[in-house]
Amino acid sequence: MLKDHHCGELRREHTGQTVVLAGWVHRRRDHGALIFIDLRDRSGLVQITCNAQSAPAAHVVLNSVRNEYVIQVTGVVQERPVGLVNPNIATGEIEVVVSAAQVLNEARTPPFYINEDAAVDEALRLKYRYLDLRRPPMQANIILRHRVVKLIRDYLDQLGFVEIETPMLIKTTPEGARDYVVPSRVHPGEFYALPQSPQQLKQLLMVAGFERYFQIARCFRDEDLRADRQPEFTQLDLEMSFVDRQDIMAVIEPLYTRIIETYGNKPILVKPFPVLTYAEAMAKYGSDKPDLRFGMEFVDLSDLAGASGFELFHKAVAAGGQVKAIVAPGAAGFSRKQVDNLAELARRFGAQGIVTIAQQADGSVKSSIAKFLTPETMTALLARTQAATGDLVVIVADANRSVVARSLSELRLALGQQLNLINHNVHALCWVVEFPLLEWSAEEGRWTAMHHPFTAAMDEDWALLESDPGAVRAKAYDLVMDGWEVGGGSIRIHRREQQQAMFRALGIGPDEAEEKFGHLLEAFEYGAPPHGGIATGIDRTVAILAGTPSIREVIAFPKTASATDLMFRSPSPISPAQLRELHLAITP
Ligand code: AMO
Repeated sequence: MLKDHHCGELRREHTGQTVVLAGWVHRRRDHGALIFIDLRDRSGLVQITCNAQSAPAAHVVLNSVRNEYVIQVTGVVQERPVGLVNPNIATGEIEVVVSAAQVLNEARTPPFYINEDAAVDEALRLKYRYLDLRRPPMQANIILRHRVVKLIRDYLDQLGFVEIETPMLIKTTPEGARDYVVPSRVHPGEFYALPQSPQQLKQLLMVAGFERYFQIARCFRDEDLRADRQPEFTQLDLEMSFVDRQDIMAVIEPLYTRIIETYGNKPILVKPFPVLTYAEAMAKYGSDKPDLRFGMEFVDLSDLAGASGFELFHKAVAAGGQVKAIVAPGAAGFSRKQVDNLAELARRFGAQGIVTIAQQADGSVKSSIAKFLTPETMTALLARTQAATGDLVVIVADANRSVVARSLSELRLALGQQLNLINHNVHALCWVVEFPLLEWSAEEGRWTAMHHPFTAAMDEDWALLESDPGAVRAKAYDLVMDGWEVGGGSIRIHRREQQQAMFRALGIGPDEAEEKFGHLLEAFEYGAPPHGGIATGIDRTVAILAGTPSIREVIAFPKTASATDLMFRSPSPISPAQLRELHLAITP
């Protein structure tokens, strides 16, 4: 090794020892005859000093270095004089007095500061990701990720899980996104698909008798990207045989508890994790990934409002819709502008607008709809919401229930932030269960699988698959943390007839089913055990633990929101020769 100690590990106990260090020049201060350098390596920073009188040769070397030069120094660890101790860094009680120094490599001036936590344009950070990753907070994120994955591996190994790799070049494994495809050179005109998840492979591993499988699996999905979505991302993917929903939860819940209690820095709000049905989650929060770090549950006013004689409310309810409210504590004094902003937000999610009722401090009620309601109705509405003096009731009415859910959910989240209601000192987890098996896609004019086509229906609902597909509940469950969907799974179909019935419900004909999923259908004929599993997002989990809103902060080399890699400048054209070899032609 070119060093015998790491910068960040030196303490008072090392006083008097001669050490050899190597790392990057984090910061340099020149006091003429005396040079101070903060030397950085992965372990942290240490201050080194060099005196022109006592170490003239080293002084000449260190006089020439600039930020990010790579240097090696030899020196003696000394206690810093009282008054010069730096309590902000772990090595702040000591410094290394240099006797010899050499430059191992020079560095150009970096395009942004490595030694400051200043905001830098993300495109620049991604282009020079290797420099961005030198910054201590990014190093901490990547190391945290390593620790979390290591904990997962150790934990599952103890429970008898076997880690098995599955191939990347396969055939479509649908999870609701578009496939990334890879052309075959050997088979002209044919393509592999990259897995959207190892879903079918892990089910086949259950047929193969492994009983407990897991993998830290890379998945590929060509979908619209957001802060919590990347085109390639990593799952903890897991599958078990001879299990029911509770058995999967009994593996994952203690695992997440351990991860958070080891690396979360914040307690878990409620243990065991609350379990909400999808119907409950939608009714109370308008979302299947409710942020339970604050309350503000929806209040259903449909019956009262529908009978109120107020046209807007009446029409919404008569058309099968709903009138629902949230109470924003202390927001009665919101300005016109603030209320308009809320209405604008609601409109972005499909609502026609919002109705507000302010319970003012002087006991009076201020509302744009006061003149349309009898005082009795107003009193009844307010009583239902339990709004207190100073509160603002925000109401959305719509004929379409999902518009009410969606827009009120966004209002709840926005108000939660704006009014500082979100408890950022805890992590709030919950399970959401009993999702609908199918959802209607107006775009495709058919039922689609809400989770994926391999999910089993609840036993009592199977009979409805043909008569009332929308009413069938699935044996599916999601794990939600601080308002993020961190995991999703289900008990699977393990009989051929049921899988075929599911494909039929999805409008996948027998030929298409055979062509795409024949291998799975056949496998189910060879003694497939009952099985189920789950996958949790490693990127999302680590991002929440690291307290960052974007998963790009916890991925070493992520892509941009338009799925490009700014460092490699990828995707990029390939040569005509490569195209020919792959039997491809680019059409304008
Ligand atoms: P699902 O599609 O719900 O289930 O994915 C599981 C978890 O993976 C994470 N995730 C993502 N993370 C980052 N970027 C993305 N584009 C992205 N998409 C999903 C989320 C999500 O909860 N095969 C099933 C699991 C199963 O049934 O066992 C599956 O993949 O955290």
